[in-house]
Amino acid sequence: MKNTSLRYGAGPALAGMICLLFTAAGLVGCGDSNGTPPGGVAIALASSATAAESGTVTMGCCDGKNTVTVSKELAGQPLADALMDQWKRDHPEANWVTEQREKHALLPPADNSDLLQGAQGKEHTYGNYTHLDLLTWARETEKFAAEGSRIFHSADALGSSIAVSCDMCHPHAANTHPETYPKFQPQLGRVALLRDMIDWCIENPVRGEHLDPNGPTMRALEAYIMAQRKGVPMNYGKH
Ligand code: HEC
Repeated sequence: MKNTSLRYGAGPALAGMICLLFTAAGLVGCGDSNGTPPGGVAIALASSATAAESGTVTMGCCDGKNTVTVSKELAGQPLADALMDQWKRDHPEANWVTEQREKHALLPPADNSDLLQGAQGKEHTYGNYTHLDLLTWARETEKFAAEGSRIFHSADALGSSIAVSCDMCHPHAANTHPETYPKFQPQLGRVALLRDMIDWCIENPVRGEHLDPNGPTMRALEAYIMAQRKGVPMNYGKH
């Protein structure tokens, strides 16, 4: 079972941009005028001899800029996912962050607008902030947590061998209690950090592979879980 809750192509704008096709076939038009289903990903199947020999294919995106090389074994949803992943990396501003926010009740980062009051932050220890600074911080921070939300809700992104994702037992990250870490965890037999428990849940209920504690997946999951406990006082050691 697939548990990718993120729905691609929420609107006509996105649908127009993510019409994907093999570069070997040349850029055949895309978007609504070419019959792209609203919100869908249109993939024109054609392969080049060179690509077929190497076991990979290079796909082009309708924006004429992005390409991604994937295994030729990939087809259907996994292929679309690989392409979307690349596209999303190149278009961090696209509405997938909004989708995570709305679908999974992702909480917004702190409002720092008080920094602009009075003398526009001129008295602040760390500098003279502008509205753009605040927007950048908020956008980058929310994007980071939204990536964690995407992974948390996707068995595929978690690398689950049994199609299980975290939200199946922790809807909206409920009962993850990040504010109680570090604390002694009997099942680990030692004092655990939040990341240790995330890893334990990846390896046990989710049946995935141990995560690099500094890798992008762990960092994103940790960010999302912390973000969802906004406003809860820290209380390390609490059971
Ligand atoms: C099959 C259900 C299930 C799934 C799937 C699952 N968990 Fe858990 N998780 C639990 C249970 C039950 C506990 C309580 C264990 C305990 O505290 O001893 C728990 C505990 C936790 C805790 C510690 C909570 C606390 O109170 O200290 C964290 C953090 C956590 N899970 C994160 C995750 C993450 C991240 C994922 C996905 C990678 C995940 N879990 C997937 C059932 C699940």
